[in-house]
Amino acid sequence: MGTPCSVYAVTESFIDRIAQEKVVILMSATDKKSIIDTTKLYETVQRMYSAVPYKMLNNGYSLPTWHYYIEVTRRCNLRCKMCQYIDWLENVPIKEQKEGELSTEEWLHVLGQIPRLSLVTFTGGEAFVRKDFMELLTFASQRSRTHFVSNTTMLPEDRAEAIVDLAPKRLGMRGFNFAGTSIEGPGDRHDEIRKLRGAWDRSMAGIRRLRDIRDANGKQCPLIHVTTVLQLANMDVLHLMPAMIKECGADVLNLVTETRMHDLPDLGEVDPTTFNDDQVTFPHIDRKVLAEALDKVEAEAKRVGVEVRMPRMPRKDLLDYYDGTGLDLKNYECRNAWNTMIIGRQGDAYPCWIQKVGNVREQSLKEIWNGTTMRGFRKTCQKQLFAMCPGCCFIDHKSGSAENAAPAAASILD
Ligand SMILES: C[S@@+](CC[C@H](N)C(=O)[O-])C[C@H]1O[C@@H](n2cnc3c(N)ncnc32)[C@H](O)[C@@H]1O
Ligand code: SF4
Ligand code: SF4
Repeated sequence: MGTPCSVYAVTESFIDRIAQEKVVILMSATDKKSIIDTTKLYETVQRMYSAVPYKMLNNGYSLPTWHYYIEVTRRCNLRCKMCQYIDWLENVPIKEQKEGELSTEEWLHVLGQIPRLSLVTFTGGEAFVRKDFMELLTFASQRSRTHFVSNTTMLPEDRAEAIVDLAPKRLGMRGFNFAGTSIEGPGDRHDEIRKLRGAWDRSMAGIRRLRDIRDANGKQCPLIHVTTVLQLANMDVLHLMPAMIKECGADVLNLVTETRMHDLPDLGEVDPTTFNDDQVTFPHIDRKVLAEALDKVEAEAKRVGVEVRMPRMPRKDLLDYYDGTGLDLKNYECRNAWNTMIIGRQGDAYPCWIQKVGNVREQSLKEIWNGTTMRGFRKTCQKQLFAMCPGCCFIDHKSGSAENAAPAAASILD
């Protein structure tokens, strides 16, 4: 193995070959099947990509970043009950929320350093509250494969058209590949959770516009996914989601665990091994209630023909997470630090939110990626996970995750 820098070029061509293979699979399969194949392939490739450095190197070095998350802002037009940033959104005065955010020029400088074969996800807060967001998305989409996660309440027709213009015809090619939105339940329930009357209508209208313009242009992209946070407030309506997804033309329903790690004071600023279970708040849902809701949503998804992605853990562990039993972290690993870099709104860089590893105002992305702090964090991840990892969507069950789950949640309630 050469130095990390010397493997950049080789790895980039490897990523590109994989991307091309994805396209071949897509072109040779039916559209629906191809989406599922690509999801699985993407997860497999991520595991393969990190396998050698994660398992065989003990110096903390990694191959180049595969996936960048760009938190363009943490400001938001909504105040969702379950939001991981709700405390900050409600308590930091609006005029202070913008302080220290990277400027347009600074973001362009960061985006310009991203290898063109990486995947770039824009998130927030709500990215569209920034007036320059379309400029940033356009710049990144001309260089790399891009994706956003948005509440899609701010997608009028002309903006939706401009977004689809950035999308390639085929998945895996350069441009805007994926659009993610977040829906917590049917109309009134979504509005109640997202604390804005009319939020559901606006979000769904945004998705439909993207879908209609995409289809009218004969494009496969952007693929549209809907994310729903599993929370007490939507258990009784979860089964209504698949039909809703189908009706609005989204491609995938993504169910994720609720995390409260951001409630921890100094998260990211202090050594993550110093936190213990008692300091972390975990959400609570009765085992039976969750099990039945999951069984119903799966049955309904099958009936209407929609793909549902579950959290990456066996079903029993998912029930354990929500009922307070907790997870045995010895059964889990996390390779996120070998794949991913998050750049926060003020330029701080993280492999994940629990450990700051540098700032883009002071160092280049390459310097941060294999810098001393990042390598130290990777070495810790090889030995142990952390108190706040349960509930994180990157945590991975060693046995290969949800596929090892018992067939029906309601049958494993003991
Ligand atoms: C923080 S939001 C930012 C993007 C955008 N504002 C939105 O809501 O889609 C990113 C994703 O995190 C999800 N999310 C919010 N609070 C969460 C929590 N406590 N635990 C897990 N996911 C959460 C949102 O539903 C959304 O899918
Ligand atoms: S729209 Fe997204 S960022 Fe805004 S409050 Fe809701 S979950 Fe949080
Ligand atoms: S599982 Fe833990 S280490 Fe991995 S990304 Fe999540 S919080 Fe970070």
